[in-house]
Amino acid sequence: MAWEYSEKTRQIFMDAVHGKPGTHMGEIEKPDGFGEHGSIVCGDALRFTFRVRQHATDPLQDVITEARYLTFGCTSAIAASEALCTIIEHGQYTPIQALKVTNQDIVRFLEGLPAQKIHCSVMGAEALESAVFNWAQKRGVDLALAGVQLQTKGEDEGRIVCKCFSVTEPYIRRKIKELNLRTIPDITNAIKAGGACASCHHAPGGLQDLLDEAWGRQPAAGGPPPPVVPRTETPAGASSFQRFKQIEQVIAQSVRPALQHDGGDIEVVDIKDNLVYCRLSGACAGCMGAQATLKMMVERTLKEEVSEQLRVIAV
Ligand code: FES
Repeated sequence: MAWEYSEKTRQIFMDAVHGKPGTHMGEIEKPDGFGEHGSIVCGDALRFTFRVRQHATDPLQDVITEARYLTFGCTSAIAASEALCTIIEHGQYTPIQALKVTNQDIVRFLEGLPAQKIHCSVMGAEALESAVFNWAQKRGVDLALAGVQLQTKGEDEGRIVCKCFSVTEPYIRRKIKELNLRTIPDITNAIKAGGACASCHHAPGGLQDLLDEAWGRQPAAGGPPPPVVPRTETPAGASSFQRFKQIEQVIAQSVRPALQHDGGDIEVVDIKDNLVYCRLSGACAGCMGAQATLKMMVERTLKEEVSEQLRVIAV
């Protein structure tokens, strides 16, 4: 699938990957603020660093002079990270002012992003929050006193609602409100939860229940929820053929939909003993996070759902 990126997004991406002067890919040594977001599941992870011009007496008046990012991700992740750095540097914001940059600001700067790529702009805002938290700790700033309520990592921990993307209930609840997410596709586009096997959509305590709790039950649009396809268990002592079929089934149910959501795909080329030879295609093939995708997402899923012994090899 080819994504419809704006001309500006394309140009920003090309400039960044060619390291054009003024772009921001990289990492600041000994930064004043350091933050990360993402789990590298499907290659999505972002590290954000910034340097400030320190105010002599009042850290609240520190100004961000330099911002850098490193990301596993595709065109939109790189372009959204570039946009975030540019907006902050040009605005000469203090770290606390920078928190006011929203994912909508990033999307506007890029002159639009495909709906399925909105999560890339959300990822930047999350990494920025984490970096500001780090700056505040280093500079002895009490964010609460400064009127800023940041969620710490621990506060987002809790019951995992979406197992495919390891997304927790507190995090989903928070994002539903912060980003005004009204439907399951809204959630998937913004934070990826629900973007693979769909079993978390209508399960008790799943995405629809969390939406209903946040906004009240909405009238159903478009009929009953889609059925969840049950997984079949391979009997003990399964033949090679049965094992191959089970691996194919897990790939089809738990892996492929997530990759297709990002414009990519995967093919199982061969299986020998415990080695599963896979090839990524589409957007995933050229993605900087392809290796991470294979190791972290595909291999982990196969280990969980088929056998701990399996290893994924890229071909
Ligand atoms: S559990 Fe949420 S998409 Fe699979």
